[in-house]
Amino acid sequence: MDQAETAGLAEAGALAGRFEEESSRVADRAAWEDLRLRWVGRKQGIVRTLLARTGEVPAADRRAWGQAVNTLKERVEGRLAELDAVLTEREREAVKRSAAVDVTLPGRRPLVGSLHPITRVNREMERIFAELGYSVAEGPEVETDYHNFEALNFPQDHPARDTQDTLFLKSGFLLRTHTSPVQIRTMLARKPPIRVICPGRVFRNDNDLRHSPMFHQVEGLAVAEGLTVGHLKGTLLAFLRRLFAPDVEIRLRPSFFPFTEPSAEVDVTCQSCKGQGCAVCSGTGWMEILGCGMVDPRVLDECGIDPDRYSGYAFGMGVDRVAMNRYGIANIRLLFDNDERLLRQVHG
Ligand code: FA5
Ligand code: MG
Repeated sequence: MDQAETAGLAEAGALAGRFEEESSRVADRAAWEDLRLRWVGRKQGIVRTLLARTGEVPAADRRAWGQAVNTLKERVEGRLAELDAVLTEREREAVKRSAAVDVTLPGRRPLVGSLHPITRVNREMERIFAELGYSVAEGPEVETDYHNFEALNFPQDHPARDTQDTLFLKSGFLLRTHTSPVQIRTMLARKPPIRVICPGRVFRNDNDLRHSPMFHQVEGLAVAEGLTVGHLKGTLLAFLRRLFAPDVEIRLRPSFFPFTEPSAEVDVTCQSCKGQGCAVCSGTGWMEILGCGMVDPRVLDECGIDPDRYSGYAFGMGVDRVAMNRYGIANIRLLFDNDERLLRQVHG
């Protein structure tokens, strides 16, 4: 081996050592990229430069020189590939770690809708009456004087009309003040036996903590041969015990409605104090829940049902009041403000 060859090999050998040392310090992708450019970069790379110098090497030594440079080149490329594989794996791990779910973090709750208290109470009433053999009847919210009053035995100028705080429309129609006109429509359309409930919106010129201009009633009507006050009372007791609690008591207080005779208002054991007397029931232990009575024979007659053969009972209650009671809502307005917070607080 001559001197030039020895020098060439010595230089390549020294470079291999330097590369070994530099590559051992590569800790990240940027350092790897620097190393690659420095050693095998197309323009200024050390290997490239050595190859470019091949022409300067004496002809006799070129072969050995070329082999030495190639060995270095293979060594560099091999090591760069190894380091690349290690770095790629490390990068993959890092991505996995950052995308991983931390199961110890509290979850994000999706916003879930819930049924309005009025809807809940309405549905429950419908379910109970369905069990008792009642079907659902409906009628229009814009009514005639005839169906809302006249046929229900409220003659013109009858003082009972005042209690209804009626909202009249310019057209001569009115907004129904109760669900009782659906009784009339049902009896005009069907023959006994009849057993229906009529849920719906009603309207009155009335507005305070317990009164709203729009509210909800559920009406009940049964017409058949031989129905008595006993049937009415038994039905109401069965219904109210399912609606409130199996141990509630009811009491009937004589009252007046033009379309029923006799008429009564029905109270149930106050659910806030279980009858002990509290602020909700003004110390009485009872809360008023509905109006009822035996259908007045004049109403049956008006609807083409023979009062000598058939008798009937009817009842009507405020759904909003039941919802207020059940969910502890003191102001009826809260039911209609559409404040999500109310819906979130009301369950079951
Ligand atoms: C009636 O409306 C009768 N039609 C009920 C009836 C039907 C009696 C069948 C006999 C036979 P009253 O005006 O009392 O009755 O109203 C019934 C219920 O509606 C009341 O007990 C109350 O719970 C509710 N209510 C009345 N006015 C309002 C109002 N402005 N806001 C909310 N609830 C009301
Ligand atoms: Mg009133």
